[in-house]
Amino acid sequence: MRHSTADPHFLLRRLHSLLGLLPVGAFLIFHLWENSQSRFGAAHYNGEVVAFLQGMNYLPILEIVIIALPLLFHAGYGLVITTQMRAELTRYRYVRNWLYWLQRASGIGILVFLLLHVGMTRIEGIWRVSVREDLFGHMQHLLSQPWMFGLYLTGLLLSVFHLANGLSTMGIVWGLTTSADAQRRFGFVCAGFGLLLAAIGLHGMIGFLP
Ligand code: HEM
Repeated sequence: MRHSTADPHFLLRRLHSLLGLLPVGAFLIFHLWENSQSRFGAAHYNGEVVAFLQGMNYLPILEIVIIALPLLFHAGYGLVITTQMRAELTRYRYVRNWLYWLQRASGIGILVFLLLHVGMTRIEGIWRVSVREDLFGHMQHLLSQPWMFGLYLTGLLLSVFHLANGLSTMGIVWGLTTSADAQRRFGFVCAGFGLLLAAIGLHGMIGFLP
């Protein structure tokens, strides 16, 4: 089927792709860096990093406009794309086929993880002052439980895989990597980027541990 800009699905698909990188992907990178500051201890994390963010003007509005709405659109339209999984999937090469499937499965996994994660941190912090005022202690309490550490590790790896693999498919969607060779080379760059992000994220998780 030929796609054109007059086709609403084409435009929605492009918007979905764009929002996955900006602002959602950019926020994920920032968030993992922010949490990697846990290695400098509670005083630095609570007193400088979190205090700076919580002190920003219009924070709830920024959170809704820059994070929640783009993520909701990306997740919602992502679910639409997932339910329309293409039947010609078997035409793809084995690895590409798995990555195509894993991109969708990881999206659903991230959605479940984010509901739990945002509920246990940002939402709980609205009515529990102790959570808001000592996010370091709260994360330490959560991550000290092995099953919770496992849940966070799973959420981290799914998100990082989804962003890194999404970047490589963006190259194709936006016509930047047209030849098979360019796609393979950019695939390696994205894999390296994903490994680096996973290391920063894991480093941050370990930084919260007693
Ligand atoms: C941490 C949060 C997320 C980030 C950073 C993110 C990022 C991305 C990026 C960069 C792409 C590539 C876009 C493209 O191929 O053009 C993508 C694709 C995709 N995302 Fe997400 N995403 C996130 C959450 C989700 C969620 C919660 C869902 C749905 C439940 C989802 C579903 C999808 C699907 C189905 C695709 C593949 C689109 C396609 O290949 O046609 N994503 N994502």
